[in-house]
Amino acid sequence: AEVVIVPDAARAGVLVAEEIVRLITRRPDAVLGVATGSTPLPVYEALRERVGGVDVSLLRAFALDEYVGIDPDHPESYRNVIRREVVEPLGLDPERVRVPAGALMGIETAGEEYEEAIASAGGIDLQILGIGTDGHIGFNEPGSSFASRTRVKTLTQQTREDNARFFESVDDVPEHCITQGLGTILAARHLVLLAFGAGKAEAVAGAIEGPVTASVPGSAIQLHSHVTVVVDEAAASALR
Ligand code: F6R
Repeated sequence: AEVVIVPDAARAGVLVAEEIVRLITRRPDAVLGVATGSTPLPVYEALRERVGGVDVSLLRAFALDEYVGIDPDHPESYRNVIRREVVEPLGLDPERVRVPAGALMGIETAGEEYEEAIASAGGIDLQILGIGTDGHIGFNEPGSSFASRTRVKTLTQQTREDNARFFESVDDVPEHCITQGLGTILAARHLVLLAFGAGKAEAVAGAIEGPVTASVPGSAIQLHSHVTVVVDEAAASALR
């Protein structure tokens, strides 16, 4: 992987947004893989300042994951987060942006349908990734198969605690999610992993330098030939 150490998250946002603008300029119908959580927000912010002169009408986007069983109107459902942080501010066509369907009704086939939608869009050109403190990418928790495809997973207690800040209490964080698999993520043509803060240092070191192991799902990126990692000093502090 190419590792870029930046002074702060805002600078990371600018670098990645510039890369995305180059991609859209080259291919107006590019397919972007978008992440939720706090990490990618500076990218979306920098992108908002740069899409003015760019035609995004043909751009497609696919989110990594969604909570299962969450009320779709809940402000923290990823469907709503993506609408609020990506679709509306960037002026994307909502019809061209998808989030895995987390509704209980139809959950058996939701993963397969999502895979088909990604395939018929021609695959993901650039996938933005954050990383969990437990090493997850998407919501592929430790133990996830490197060949996995979009499916339902159980969130670890660690992840539920990490995400409790978005809910009233940890008990309100859903227990299950539907997430692109590691195999799905590895099929994207360019992976861009971002991480900020000392809390991510161990996960980042494990992903980039540790053994390639299902115990650290992020280490799957070592199997990909086009990976850019953008981290601040604190998140880079456990790298050798
Ligand atoms: C989000 C996702 C997760 C997050 C990770 C880090 O769609 O799939 O892997 O990227 O949990 O979350 P933050 O950025 O909130 O620290």
